[in-house]
Amino acid sequence: MMGADEKGYFTEGNSVEVVTGRNAGAKDERLKEVMDVITRKLHEAVKELEPTQEEWMQAILFLTRTGQMCNEWRQEFILLSDVLGVSMLVDAINNRKPSGASESTVLGPFHVADAPELPMGANICLDSKGEDMVIEGRILDTEGKPIANAVIDVWQANDEGFYDVQQKGIQPDFNLRGIFRTGPNGHYWFRAVKPKYYPIPDDGPVGQLLGHLGRHPYRPAHLHYIISADGFETLTTHIFDPDDPYIHSDAVFGVKKSLLAKFNRVNDPGRAKRYEFAGDFWEVAHNFVLARSRT
Ligand code: BEZ
Ligand code: FE
Repeated sequence: MMGADEKGYFTEGNSVEVVTGRNAGAKDERLKEVMDVITRKLHEAVKELEPTQEEWMQAILFLTRTGQMCNEWRQEFILLSDVLGVSMLVDAINNRKPSGASESTVLGPFHVADAPELPMGANICLDSKGEDMVIEGRILDTEGKPIANAVIDVWQANDEGFYDVQQKGIQPDFNLRGIFRTGPNGHYWFRAVKPKYYPIPDDGPVGQLLGHLGRHPYRPAHLHYIISADGFETLTTHIFDPDDPYIHSDAVFGVKKSLLAKFNRVNDPGRAKRYEFAGDFWEVAHNFVLARSRT
């Protein structure tokens, strides 16, 4: 006579096999693989943690609040993925670069698709607030040759740690954003202001989770870049200020050694005048190396 287990009744011991077995007829092989792995790992976690009904309900309500926080401008699930290190892990798996190519990091929620294309050297700071900064470098291939016609989409927070889209009516539209295109020598330069560290949006369930875990919500000061060129893989990355107080504890784990760029303070009245800066300014030099498209 068959025992209950053999008939496939659910028990604590056979939970994974019963659930994954029920998915045996899935039409999408990848979905089946994903659900098999997730079921196995999730059941393993539940068996190890042995949550009470109240704890499980807390988890359900946390995920419910996370979903309820999402709207056209706010994606709380991506923030959750960011603070769990999953965004950086997916990024790493999908951006294994050849040696010498610049490394990628998270996109973040503050990119806007339609920033203006500006002449090389333009000042992306439209409200004259903050400490002046000039940034320059070259876009190169892995053999060190300049890439012409590379498109550099850059955006950053202001000196108080806010993006323009977080301060509509306070900052001008498209403040501290711009698109630049390299010429034959692959050189780029533009003027901006020194960015400041800022908290990721922390007024929702993800912020509460960080608080309960004794973690701060800050990202060290950085500039965002998306750099694209025909024949090359698009690079989504940042450069970071290595002297920032949060450089070793980025809330979303986005910092990599190769993305640290020295921010130098410059006292040179002649150069300041040429850049139309009032006095001392910051200078950053950073080259980006693009990997050739694999297709
Ligand atoms: C950002 O750098 O813009 C960012 C990245 C992840 C979460 C929140 C903000
Ligand atoms: Fe950012």
